[in-house]
Amino acid sequence: MIRVVLVDDSADIVSNIERLLHFEPDIEVVGTANDGETGVQLVRETHPDVVVLDINMPGMDGLTAAEAITSTMPGTQVIMMSVQDDVDYLRRAMVAGARDYILKPLDAGEVSTRIRQVYGISEGKAKQAAGDEPEKGRIVTVFGPRGGCGCTTVAINLALALRAFTKRKVVIVDAALQFGDVGVMLNLHDNRSIADLARKVDELDAGFATEVTIAHTSGIRALLAPSRPEAAELVTADAMRRVLQAVRQAFDLVVIDGGHALTDTLLAAIDETDQLLLLTTPDIPSIKNVRLMLDVLEAIGVPDERRSLVISQAGRRYGVKSEDIERSLGCRAIAAVPFDEAGPLLAANQGRPMFLVDPETPLCQAIMALASLVTGTTAKEQPLAPPAEKPKVRGLRALWAKA
Ligand SMILES: Nc1ncnc2c1ncn2[C@@H]1O[C@H](COP(=O)(O)OP(=O)(O)OP(=O)(O)O)[C@@H](O)[C@H]1O
Ligand SMILES: [Mg+2]
Repeated sequence: MIRVVLVDDSADIVSNIERLLHFEPDIEVVGTANDGETGVQLVRETHPDVVVLDINMPGMDGLTAAEAITSTMPGTQVIMMSVQDDVDYLRRAMVAGARDYILKPLDAGEVSTRIRQVYGISEGKAKQAAGDEPEKGRIVTVFGPRGGCGCTTVAINLALALRAFTKRKVVIVDAALQFGDVGVMLNLHDNRSIADLARKVDELDAGFATEVTIAHTSGIRALLAPSRPEAAELVTADAMRRVLQAVRQAFDLVVIDGGHALTDTLLAAIDETDQLLLLTTPDIPSIKNVRLMLDVLEAIGVPDERRSLVISQAGRRYGVKSEDIERSLGCRAIAAVPFDEAGPLLAANQGRPMFLVDPETPLCQAIMALASLVTGTTAKEQPLAPPAEKPKVRGLRALWAKA
């Protein structure tokens, strides 16, 4: 049973949510309050799993209350409610320790879904504390089969947003091995790269993996692609698999820039991935490539729940409309990153990602929403096939056998 406390200065909203949750068999509302002070007090007394907290309240506001709760009761997860679709509020909520946010007016099914999602995070933590199993980092891979569609832009800004939101250990891995751009886009100059780990796979562990990553001023670390294209060969599919297994022991969130090349190494990365973000731009060649990629994923047995569509450069003039992209690919996009003529280009040229320059831009807001979705679900709670049934990706040759 997930134990929940509701705090909102509007008694109507509290009772509405209570009514909605009444029908959920696994959720129990253990207390309600109409102001921040009483809410914090109630949380201290009842030790709920999840608090749903309004951001704007007279007296102690939601942000202060969230901070008071998360700093003293790490087992309690906070979901923020706000009427303001305001990125600054959102960021402050995440900094205050909130795990998720819900916008008012409330969507009936959404509240319970979000409560279950953040509860999944706290359950993972509790297991870790009990020593049940070592907690593994979550791997999110961004892949844009068309090339030049914004894969590196999305991957870098997503990693930064995840770090800002969660304050957890975040690494970006450049798996575009021949011509990876993560180093240049983050203005990192270092010869250490994933090839160093691939050369010594037998010595791999969390400590060695961390040593080879480069610290960025934002707080994330980066595992760079080899500095020369020919060194990409060192990173075989088996090496990639083992590198990622070591990296996910060392970091909580791993964002992979998968680039655009469908190789055995990329398939090995996908095999280790919890959530694959497939990028398309609003043009037919890109949509066609994602269509082909979806077929490949199906052929190698990657379940639908493990991959999501993201539209990059959405709203581009003369581009295919987002709803037409979704219709033609037969799946909904979980995010649409808007077209921005200047931002990504300036960011790439200056080595300063947009999220660090101006997080208020629509592009960064879309990335933040994506970050929230990525952290909102844990690998464990996703309806994946059980491990025994999860087929191993056996490389591109396996596809020929199926043809
Ligand atoms: N949302 C966007 N709006 C407008 N331009 C964008 C957007 N995202 C990326 N770009 C631009 O598209 C180009 C490619 O971006 P990026 O390097 O992120 O793509 P990529 O998919 O990683 O490319 P590659 O396949 O070469 O690795 C760059 O010029 C970048 O400035
Ligand atoms: Mg790239």
